[in-house]
Amino acid sequence: MNFNLIKSFKYEMPTKIIFGCGVVNQTGKELEKLGVKKVMIVTDRGFIESGLVCRLENSLKCSKIEYVTYNKVQPNSGDKLVKEAANIAKDENCELTIGIGGGSSMDTAKAVAVMVTNTGNIMDYAGMDKIKNKPLPNIAIPTTAGTGSEVTIWAVITDHEKNYKTGIGSFMIIPKVAICDPELTISLPTHITAATGMDALTHAIESYVCTATQPISEALSEKAITLIGEYLRIAVANGKNIDAREGMLMGSLTAALAFNETRLGIAHSWASPLGAHFPISHGLVNSILLPNVMEYNLIGNPEKFARIALLMGENIEGLNLMDSARKSVKAVRDLSTDIGLPQRLKDVIDISEEDIRKMANEALQSGNNLVNPRKPTLEDMIEICRNSM
Ligand SMILES: [Fe+2]
Repeated sequence: MNFNLIKSFKYEMPTKIIFGCGVVNQTGKELEKLGVKKVMIVTDRGFIESGLVCRLENSLKCSKIEYVTYNKVQPNSGDKLVKEAANIAKDENCELTIGIGGGSSMDTAKAVAVMVTNTGNIMDYAGMDKIKNKPLPNIAIPTTAGTGSEVTIWAVITDHEKNYKTGIGSFMIIPKVAICDPELTISLPTHITAATGMDALTHAIESYVCTATQPISEALSEKAITLIGEYLRIAVANGKNIDAREGMLMGSLTAALAFNETRLGIAHSWASPLGAHFPISHGLVNSILLPNVMEYNLIGNPEKFARIALLMGENIEGLNLMDSARKSVKAVRDLSTDIGLPQRLKDVIDISEEDIRKMANEALQSGNNLVNPRKPTLEDMIEICRNSM
């Protein structure tokens, strides 16, 4: 196997990770260790209604931590919402934010932490290392197994005026503590389990084949691909299967630990404009785009794609390298079909050729393309999206 023989690299992971059933009860103790007295919980109404937030609140009460709750997070969190929450956090003298929920809640909590200590609009800090003043610390508690935001330097926020989704990237916003409790994912609806799980698989695969990977991210990606290949179908079939929920939460965590240092690829380059302009979830965009992006990328790193096929249980015995690599595309298509996700964009959104051309320019600007194993042109980007129609 011809892996990237990189002579030097950096791998940085300052987040303390606490994983296991019931660990949400340890949140108060972790806040005591951080010397924090008052926090803002950032979440969405659905999570409050699920009743699971009580477990977090009880833990805070046991440790005598005061809290205010901001529960207006939407699927694609925007700058206005961040401003509103940050003003409340400032007025209430909160010392830390806790993002509990899916990627939007955790990302909003990171962005709120930034806007408590920085002026202007959160969009002023879009891009890499643009934050000026040290944000409040934040803690992330995922309730989906997908985004991996609990251990990443990224907060993805929507600019509602420009209808554009962008990332704020900085080690200053990486969570102090990631509290990964599989029990919090048990009540996730089937379609969200499926789509978020495919997002995690996309993270693992895009990081694994990209030009910026190194041995630590490679090992983490391999673990993630294996876990998701093994457990996503089971988690979709029976959400109450705690082994499957554990496997998926560990899969999304390890995938994020892999890509945090590498960035991603073309599927994620397309996810931002498609998610900003059309009502389609991030996970579903990735699920539909991923096999088409993989097909395009095969010649860029065939050894890695052949390895993905093996990790996902395909038999590649007797096949040449390219045919082995192609089996990885089949494995991903089979998985997304088995878990009942749509296979084409037109099954979900009404998208025209003109829309594709417009968004392709946006997708081509993404920093993820810099590490993609094949360098895309504008026409390549258009073709990949067309093939996903
Ligand atoms: Fe993603």
